[in-house]
Amino acid sequence: MAVALIVAAGRGERLGSGRPKALVSLGGRPMLAWSVAALRSVAAVQAIVVALPADALDGAPEGTRAVAGGEHRAHSVRAALRAGAGDPVIVHDAARPLAAPALFEQALDELALSPEADAVIAAAPVTDTIKEVSADGRTVARTLHRARLWAVQTPQVFRRAALEHALDVPDSELARATDDAGLVEAAGGVVHVVGSDPGNLKITTREDLRLAELILAERGG
Ligand code: C5P
Repeated sequence: MAVALIVAAGRGERLGSGRPKALVSLGGRPMLAWSVAALRSVAAVQAIVVALPADALDGAPEGTRAVAGGEHRAHSVRAALRAGAGDPVIVHDAARPLAAPALFEQALDELALSPEADAVIAAAPVTDTIKEVSADGRTVARTLHRARLWAVQTPQVFRRAALEHALDVPDSELARATDDAGLVEAAGGVVHVVGSDPGNLKITTREDLRLAELILAERGG
């Protein structure tokens, strides 16, 4: 049975709400509650662990296990992983409250059907052309071939041994990681993608929050 880790220990300073981003109100409940509700309706999920700021552990919804997050995102993932038994492991950002239960199920199904894969991640093909810019911040170094570029999101689903191995690196390396699947790749693992839906947006700014409110209102949520 699967365990779900929700990382919610970011301060969310760009939202400027004065409280952890995961606990900011969205559609009448804390942002974190949306991910918990989605995961509760996924049959394979046996437990949910939530990494929160150490001074906000009482913000964990009932029935979830709260752990103190770390300085960087991957440290929070590692702390949550240690607190929850289960295989495979679903990692999800509280900052993506609109992920649908079907997306978690799709990722779990793809992992179950792909013995060669160590992880499956939700991702969306990019619609903008992406250029690499030189260190001077103003000169284009090259243009990447868009047809093969995907923007990576969560959920990300892992075989437990692969995630444990990938996170078993020095803290400084974890500090640089923006994505757990990248750590699995660095350890030589195989990562598959499943196409995500465009509604799985990441809340960073107040504008994102307003957009999420609109999407929820349209969904009748
Ligand atoms: O900062 P950002 O929005 O990229 O963070 C992505 C997710 O990681 C958020 O849900 C945030 O709460 C979480 N996070 C964490 N621990 C940290 C930093 C971020 O759990 N130290």
